[in-house]
Amino acid sequence: MAHENSQESWDEIDRYIVDRLLPADGALDAALAHSAAAGLPSINVAPNQGALLGLLASMTHARRVLEIGTLGGYSTIWLARALPPAGRLVSLEAQDRHAAVARANVAQAGLAGLVEIRVGPALELLPELEREGVDPFDMVFVDADKAHNAEYFAWALRLTHVGSVVVVDNVVRGGRLLDSSSADPDVVGTRRLYDAVAAEPRVRATAVQTVGSKGHDGFLVALVVEAT
Ligand code: SAH
Ligand code: DHB
Ligand code: MG
Repeated sequence: MAHENSQESWDEIDRYIVDRLLPADGALDAALAHSAAAGLPSINVAPNQGALLGLLASMTHARRVLEIGTLGGYSTIWLARALPPAGRLVSLEAQDRHAAVARANVAQAGLAGLVEIRVGPALELLPELEREGVDPFDMVFVDADKAHNAEYFAWALRLTHVGSVVVVDNVVRGGRLLDSSSADPDVVGTRRLYDAVAAEPRVRATAVQTVGSKGHDGFLVALVVEAT
């Protein structure tokens, strides 16, 4: 039934949206096919969510993007396509196997010149970026292990500037975030993220729930402002 509140209906509505608004895209389809063939989990953002990430990058005129959690590079491709020719995207990925698939997908999409994928635990790579004196990023997409989201948010603030945008994926997890007694590190990490954002005077932020082909979840979006 088209109007019922169910995964089946969300899938159908996502198909409707994608069919009408998103052009057929060989590079993105190939990236997902290659990722699946390599045995990567299909926990990439949905196509319409990837398009939203690209729009946010375009709307903010982002030239430098930091991504935490590359997987097979699907969201990476959406974000990198929004960059100008001299733009730069640095993506951090803990698993070598994922990074290898992502590098191939990014190259096949013609974006290898814009994208650098670094391998290691993000909490080791982020201080390295800072030590290298990397130029601040205009947008950060946080989409790795949810247990460390509060730490990734803190690092995002260290590596951005006033006017930068920070987007965090998976901040609802089917409603599990409401379980204050949960010992699940993902839930605890998600709740710590909300607390950290709420206590941070340098951002204006909100979160929105999403339903669709990736189930019931949500994005948190924060704008870095002058501390109040
Ligand atoms: N952004 C991707 C999906 C990322 S899935 C997309 O939408 O297409 C989450 C990724 O984070 C996985 O590839 C996982 O290996 C990686 N990851 C998990 N823990 C990590 C950590 N501590 N540091 C860096 N990457 C991590
Ligand atoms: C899952 C989904 C994600 O979007 C992600 O980044 C990590 C994990 C999941 O459904 O397990
Ligand atoms: Mg995600």
